[in-house]
Amino acid sequence: MKALVLSGGRGTRLRPITHTGAKQLIPIANKPILFYGLEAIADAGIKDVGIIVGETKEEIKKAVGTGKKWGLRITYVEQKAPLGLAHAVKVSQRYLKDKPFVMYLGDNLVKEGITSLVREFKRKKPNALILLSRVREPQRFGVAELKKGKVVRLTEKPKRPKSDLALVGVYMFDKNIFEAVNNIKPSFRKEYEITDAIQYLIDKGHKVHSHIIQGWWKDTGKVEDVLEANRLILEFLQTKIEGKVDGDSRITGRVVIERGAQVVNSVIRGPAIIGKRSKIINSYIGPFTSIYWGTTIRNSEIEHSIVLEESSIDSISGRINESLIGKEVSIFKTKAKPQSYRFTIGDRSRLEVL
Ligand code: G1P
Repeated sequence: MKALVLSGGRGTRLRPITHTGAKQLIPIANKPILFYGLEAIADAGIKDVGIIVGETKEEIKKAVGTGKKWGLRITYVEQKAPLGLAHAVKVSQRYLKDKPFVMYLGDNLVKEGITSLVREFKRKKPNALILLSRVREPQRFGVAELKKGKVVRLTEKPKRPKSDLALVGVYMFDKNIFEAVNNIKPSFRKEYEITDAIQYLIDKGHKVHSHIIQGWWKDTGKVEDVLEANRLILEFLQTKIEGKVDGDSRITGRVVIERGAQVVNSVIRGPAIIGKRSKIINSYIGPFTSIYWGTTIRNSEIEHSIVLEESSIDSISGRINESLIGKEVSIFKTKAKPQSYRFTIGDRSRLEVL
């Protein structure tokens, strides 16, 4: 069995972060989202992985490489335009050949992994196996209608959802999916939807099994989801202090201080992770915070947040909360006159100030 991991797309709902980087590489607990999926695939015993790449192809290739560190053989498959998930399957047909495969959306996180599901698929050999999860806002997803446990209808982003069962971004298919992706029309959002392709399989009488997952699942499409995923992953953090913590600092709860990080006269209340080369000085880092590499936080307080690499936060008087802060960002108390707010902010940024 092969895997197809989707790592193209523009990440429009995560702008401005995605103006300068691929959404699949946003670190959750200091590890790119995409890597969690690759690990789940490797754990399920799959070796051959095709990664669909688009505009951000160079960045993805640089981060993932050959896949050797997960014991995977990675092939990059280019999708010239983000025309939808079914289109991604279409352009991968030459790579996938006639073999069954798992399709995994590179911005999805599934707590329970996929090992037992891959086993179930291999044992029961349906034409497709879809994963479902009960959600609060089904209209944001593909939605499944079941009758007596069987999938009867799938609708992409329905205005009036018929159930609260969302399609999780992990699917298993046999070769019949190729006929389906070649026979569907673009949707209202002008994409070839995998949801419609699976509906095609149902309509043609193919066996489409479903599995409702019990553990959590996150599609990290929006900032709130990224922060929530960070919270969920940090819940399972194991303490590991490899960087330097001075005697005036206090660390409580489960905290990771990566090699080369420094904590000076600060309080870190876990679960929290401080990345390589980052400096925390006279500051408070509260629960559910991930500080990525080479970032400095001085005379400030932050919690429930993610800060990416090489950023700097200095002398901010209010506590920073529920924030996703990008790369090379500076937030500091001004000494300049007149004393005023001065913003240099990219398109689609959002600032909430006191
Ligand atoms: C895609 C699918 C949708 C599915 C979701 C899961 O949505 O089209 O059916 O529920 O992934 O992450 P998109 O992220 O393209 O809006």
